[in-house]
Amino acid sequence: MDFPVTRLRRLRYNSVLRQMVTETKLSVDDFVMPLFVCSGTNVRNHINSMPGNYQLSVENLVEECRKVYAAGVKAVLLFGIPAHKDEDGSVACEHDGIVQQAIRALKKDNKDLYIIADVCNCEYTTHGHCGTIIDGDVDNDTTLITLAKQAVSLAEAGADMIAPSDMMDGRVAIIREQLDLNKFEKIPIMSYAAKYASGFYGPFREAAESAPKFGNRATYQMNPANTNEAMREVELDIAEGADIVMVKPALSYLDVIYRVKNEFKMPVAAYNVSGEFSMVKAAAKNDWIDGERVMMEILTSIKRAGADIIITYHAVEAANVLNRMK
Ligand code: PBG
Repeated sequence: MDFPVTRLRRLRYNSVLRQMVTETKLSVDDFVMPLFVCSGTNVRNHINSMPGNYQLSVENLVEECRKVYAAGVKAVLLFGIPAHKDEDGSVACEHDGIVQQAIRALKKDNKDLYIIADVCNCEYTTHGHCGTIIDGDVDNDTTLITLAKQAVSLAEAGADMIAPSDMMDGRVAIIREQLDLNKFEKIPIMSYAAKYASGFYGPFREAAESAPKFGNRATYQMNPANTNEAMREVELDIAEGADIVMVKPALSYLDVIYRVKNEFKMPVAAYNVSGEFSMVKAAAKNDWIDGERVMMEILTSIKRAGADIIITYHAVEAANVLNRMK
């Protein structure tokens, strides 16, 4: 039946009805808030390229997480900025490493806060690469050892979930094996399965002080032009034991999110990364866009594409918008 009988606008005239027929609804349950913890006390360094985000020392992180939790965002993803770095990122495996300290303090303050620990070496190596350098490049299998140690150490500190972001081959398998050997079989792995070598990570590298000192990450992170390869990455991570697979970045990779969801029917996470966040903030500051509206539109598009979990620096702001609309 065609026009004039069929009129799609009929369902758009009334706001109650528009709500009823909304196909994609964001919820605070979808959100994970990434946070940066650094050594020292009383530190609250504003990250200029990421307005509203800070490098926080442990006690300030605890304070911040109370606000995050009060807004309804119950999960955080932690990144550490250690006082000292070394060649292979071993500082990340220390019992009293910065993220380990943070996890213990957060769990003591609120055991219900869900803590996801990022596992990677780039914040902990002097050269800023995600693993141990041999012959001028990150050596895959040597790096697996430190990654697995880091994962076990973070689980011992009380992390609820482990999220490897390094893009080494085989890391999900070794992390799963080592977690299980240490009686952490209940701890899920959310793998950054399809992580692209992206310019959108720029602000994060300032925030986490993790920019590579030489070269780039193109020998381990994926080429932005490839999606079949992303399917292979995801397939392998699932075979190795990943419980949730992530696509990162999100916005320029909505097709990848869609394909991963459709081909694997797994829980899918998408990382709305620092550059995607900062562009919205910068344009909004110039009054070129309505920042809040664009934020909600972007988050909705990520969910519409197929993401179940959205990791985003907008988490608290978006939660506040959703809470207001209730
Ligand atoms: C660490 C890591 C990065 C991000 C998350 N984990 C940076 C990178 O790979 O260089 C980026 C997150 C963001 O941009 O928000 N490997």
